[in-house]
Amino acid sequence: MTKKLYIKTYGCQMNVYDSERMAEALEGYEQVQSPDGADMILLNTCHIREKAAEKVYSELGRYKDLKEAKPDLKIGVAGCVAQAEGEEIMRRQPMVDLVVGPQSYHRLPELEARAQAGEKALDTDFPEEDKFEKLKSRPKAQRGPTAFLTVQEGCDKFCAFCVVPYTRGAEVSRPVARVLAEAEDLVSRGVREITLLGQNVNAYHGEDGGETWGLARLIRRLAEIDELKRIRFTTSHPNDMEDDLVAAHGDCDKLMPYLHLPVQSGSDRILKRMNRKHTAASYIELVERIRAARPDLLLSGDFIVGFPEETEEDFQATLDLIERVNYGQAYSFKYSSRPGTPAAERPEVAAAEADDRLQRLQALITRQQRAAQDAMVGREVHVLIEKPGRLPGQMVGKSDHLHAVHVMSDSLAIGDLARVRITDSGPNSLAGTLL
Ligand code: 5AD
Ligand code: SF4
Repeated sequence: MTKKLYIKTYGCQMNVYDSERMAEALEGYEQVQSPDGADMILLNTCHIREKAAEKVYSELGRYKDLKEAKPDLKIGVAGCVAQAEGEEIMRRQPMVDLVVGPQSYHRLPELEARAQAGEKALDTDFPEEDKFEKLKSRPKAQRGPTAFLTVQEGCDKFCAFCVVPYTRGAEVSRPVARVLAEAEDLVSRGVREITLLGQNVNAYHGEDGGETWGLARLIRRLAEIDELKRIRFTTSHPNDMEDDLVAAHGDCDKLMPYLHLPVQSGSDRILKRMNRKHTAASYIELVERIRAARPDLLLSGDFIVGFPEETEEDFQATLDLIERVNYGQAYSFKYSSRPGTPAAERPEVAAAEADDRLQRLQALITRQQRAAQDAMVGREVHVLIEKPGRLPGQMVGKSDHLHAVHVMSDSLAIGDLARVRITDSGPNSLAGTLL
């Protein structure tokens, strides 16, 4: 009998991808949407910010009744909290049967078998072998029109605030042939848009018969797959934005005009303390070059406010940079000290001050985001249809610039790339008519 697997995914898109692969790896299970009645619950966790571990422990506490009602329910913790906390998880929450880190989840079937035998199963190694090679091949079932594809993992940048280099390990790129094979496979299953993923995806340097390919070359090769209509990638570090990748934004039609390029701060003093290895001016100059290649590029960013020793003047420099760059989208966070990172040793900005800065920054970003969305009204865009909308006869998809767009039509199907005239800009989405 097939068992039921419930996976709860936290954090970034790489975790979304990993959760898919973990579900596929666990043979004999079907994925369900609720923990009730599940035979296995797996939390795929994120450690990037704020009390991540505490949140996992409190989530685990909520499964106590389920475990009592069904003693052979297996509970597992995967992802970056699993990596960072390791055995501590089982000590603090004895009902956890299985702990697996992001670099060892290809061993999940074996760990699951041990858990079934009543053992505590733990694996937080950074193994030599490539987990993607050890994972069983992906199923052939049809799937939706968009997919994530991890091409690179880990990070060697060691920004002073960030746990990623410790939880995900060193930077590793998947070989070109394997990425291409996985992309071809996804396309044969109905995928029309692929987002290439990596913690530092633009540092991609995949091997191909003794040659090393950068991300731009990979994108250009993927663009040759006829039925693949759109390519995106995330997340990038400004220092790895090579000329060829900048050029690809101008000359590769399938590469979408949307770029997530975190800067974190606009103050050179803080950027230096963050170990970012770029300045505000070098970032702005880079943005100008990319916009010269692709004038309608929608830029997205990440910001941290209240980094240790950030003054009002430093913060003002961040606001100035945002004014200069003009973002169509951005994520902003209050600095959160992560144990084991260099910044964790430094004096923190008062919480009330950091809260106030976050609000001011978010107000500015919201204004820019709104203006970028409103500017789409009257324009003709392409929308990749993803699902039916809430209203009868309504379909929803994403534009090239990643705006959600609602279209009324009874002729559109999921996976269609529709030409749409934008007529309205609502709080979180656009509306348009089919051309
Ligand atoms: N505190 C706050 N934000 C953080 N980020 C990473 N580490 C921290 C931290 N310790 C943010 C950065 C990064 C995004 C994924 O999360 O902005 O780009
Ligand atoms: Fe973290 Fe910096 Fe690496 Fe991004 S580039 S994953 S913020 S260390």
